[in-house]
Amino acid sequence: MIEQIKLSLKEKLEAYYKEKYSMELSIVVETPKKAEMGDISIPMFTVVKALRKPMPEIVAEALEEIKSLDLPILNVSNAGAFVNLFVDKAKLSAKIIQNAVSEGEAYGNSTIGNGKTIVLDYSSPNIAKSFSVGHLRSTMIGNSLKLILQKCGYNTVAINYLGDWGTQFGKMIVAIEKWGDIDVIKKDPINELASLYVRVNNEEKDHPEIAEEAREAFRKIELGEPKYVEMWKWIREESLKESEQIYDLLGVTFDSYNGEAFYNDKMEPIVNELEEKKILEEDQGALVVRLSDDIPPALIKRSDGGTLYITRDLAAVFWRKKEYNFSKAFYVVGGEQKLHFQQLKGVLSKMGYQDLSDSIMHVNFGMVLKDGKKMSTRKGNVVKLYDILMQAIDAAKKQIEEKNPNMENKDEIAVKVGCGAVVFNDLKNFRALDYEFDINAMVRFEGQTGPYLQYTGVRIASILRDKTFDVNNIDAKLFEKPHYFEIVKQIASFRQTIEKASEEASPSVVAKYLLSLASSFNKFYSLEKINAEDEVVRNTNFALAKSVRVILNEGLRLLGINYLDEM
Ligand code: ARG
Repeated sequence: MIEQIKLSLKEKLEAYYKEKYSMELSIVVETPKKAEMGDISIPMFTVVKALRKPMPEIVAEALEEIKSLDLPILNVSNAGAFVNLFVDKAKLSAKIIQNAVSEGEAYGNSTIGNGKTIVLDYSSPNIAKSFSVGHLRSTMIGNSLKLILQKCGYNTVAINYLGDWGTQFGKMIVAIEKWGDIDVIKKDPINELASLYVRVNNEEKDHPEIAEEAREAFRKIELGEPKYVEMWKWIREESLKESEQIYDLLGVTFDSYNGEAFYNDKMEPIVNELEEKKILEEDQGALVVRLSDDIPPALIKRSDGGTLYITRDLAAVFWRKKEYNFSKAFYVVGGEQKLHFQQLKGVLSKMGYQDLSDSIMHVNFGMVLKDGKKMSTRKGNVVKLYDILMQAIDAAKKQIEEKNPNMENKDEIAVKVGCGAVVFNDLKNFRALDYEFDINAMVRFEGQTGPYLQYTGVRIASILRDKTFDVNNIDAKLFEKPHYFEIVKQIASFRQTIEKASEEASPSVVAKYLLSLASSFNKFYSLEKINAEDEVVRNTNFALAKSVRVILNEGLRLLGINYLDEM
């Protein structure tokens, strides 16, 4: 929090010398080596040199100017050419708390994004296949990043790049034609389509001709045969409903659903450009772009003329650049696709679009494990994600019933607690790490969980319920006590925390911060009678509690988690 004062001192002194002497000086503001010297130290050598005046005169002038500034400073003095200051922690703390209370949800807003646009590609499930654990991670991380970036002043475009093109549709059509009963499917499309897909994959092992039939069927979609295009559209729509159930539960939204199919007619110009630039090479009938020695060549066109995943991603980069003029493009995709994004960036830079290549960031993430093994939704081992969320909601409801049996809207709250638990558990560790999935551990009200944060917020809400307090009639001296000051410091660093999360593209920075804020508050709660007899002490405590609540609410919102008034 002293950083802000340092910055103001620098700016104000530089402005002073500019106005008085028309000099553009760069004032250095540092932290003294020894704490007894002060909290801030300003060496005046550069000013002496620039103004060509005796040192004592320069120092005296600086001292006088600093004293006249409206900053929470206790004491300024000098030791030789160094101006040393002690910060008035009480006054500074009071300012911070008053700001947090009055700004509310706007507290911590940053301008580092400066109106630039970031495109986020997340969730992006593959239609006709099931919504995997990886897609769930992508959904939660992407959604939180979007909110964090917005808080930092970026424009965001959230794109659900559906995997809605490819031979899986051919397979699906073959399966429907062979074994499907339209009436049965129509009654429960999500499950019927999923089991048909499992079946076709299994049968393919013994009947290799199915692969050929599937390619044939997909070919017909590509050629635009009406009956097949109709089927494609229908499968796409029905499958999307499965994903939408999950988005609704989690409160996740998108600005665009342009998936792979959208780019089907937008690849040719790019392939042509690659050809003109002479970077497309033939390799056993296929067309590839050779990249640096340490990564394999990117396959752009198969020998049968078919295009690939990367070909569509290339088309998508150019289209999005033109449409949104982004400064950065985040792809929230599992670590398994590292090579794909290296190749995508590699091809772009070989084409001469170095800036575009540099603007692409693969926001990778690790695996979710169940008993040490990758949790999978495919091949019979079908873990239905919607069911998993439902289990978390049930577990949350049990706990709520134990703690608060008479509460009304229990079901509604259980949804918010259960989903919040899953989301927080996913976001609390750096995204690239794998983690073990344990529903009971993540819904607990104690420990490093989402419900713990919601519960801390609820505790504050109940302390403050029906109370009023005057945030301007407080005893700022109290903030100097360690268990108060610890919280004040954290509140002061909210904005930097969010900026760091945005720079590292990792919501875990916010998640960890909230855990430590909640634990400081709970310590405070155990040490202090918040609803104190003395009015001024009470005002001070309430103001502090209120700012913690403001930040917990806003922090949870940034993670994509609901905050609550009771639970
Ligand atoms: N649908 C892909 C998959 O499930 C993920 C797409 C990621 N986004 C992208 N632009 N490649 O593997």
